[in-house]
Amino acid sequence: MGSEFAYNFVFKVVLVGETGVGKTNLLSRFTKNQFTLDSRATIGVEFSTKTTQLGEASIRAQIWDTAGLERYRAITSAYYRGAVGALVVYDITKKPTYECVERWLSELFDHAHPHVVVMLVGNKTDLESDRCVATEEARQYAEKKALLFVETSALESTNVEVAFNSVLSEIH
Ligand code: GTP
Repeated sequence: MGSEFAYNFVFKVVLVGETGVGKTNLLSRFTKNQFTLDSRATIGVEFSTKTTQLGEASIRAQIWDTAGLERYRAITSAYYRGAVGALVVYDITKKPTYECVERWLSELFDHAHPHVVVMLVGNKTDLESDRCVATEEARQYAEKKALLFVETSALESTNVEVAFNSVLSEIH
């Protein structure tokens, strides 16, 4: 087997959250180091893979991204099936996207693996002056729900690796 394709584990991780929070850009930043300023809403489902080294093990992350917009969403149960990790994303500058986290969590827990590892992700920290969701409020909420928590910027590439790799190492 070529070393390029050698890995010990394949983990399915899903991205969820309202439209426009930056799911697609977090994924492209992590897997391709790319960011798109005027990216369009995702239609249906896309996925990308990336292999990372965690200690001794080589982990193949298969990360699924779907539309936040209801009308563009594919069949929910298929999306979540077999997922062992999830990033639930909101936009720190848009309070309603944070208020919807609860709903995304219940959909996730209804469909994913019972021990799914979940990270709450507050994205767009580069827009600090427009912040509407306090870090501490989100941190406490995550703690109460036993979720991992991080704030990121897909634009500035802040904490993106941390977000994905923490979930992967927690699964592992
Ligand atoms: P849906 O596919 O509709 O569910 O949206 P999405 O959550 O995938 O959002 P997407 O990645 O398409 O980003 C939406 C918009 O936010 C785009 O214009 C991005 O350029 C922008 N965006 C994403 N991440 C960041 C970020 O970290 N900072 C800033 N300033 N803009 C961002």
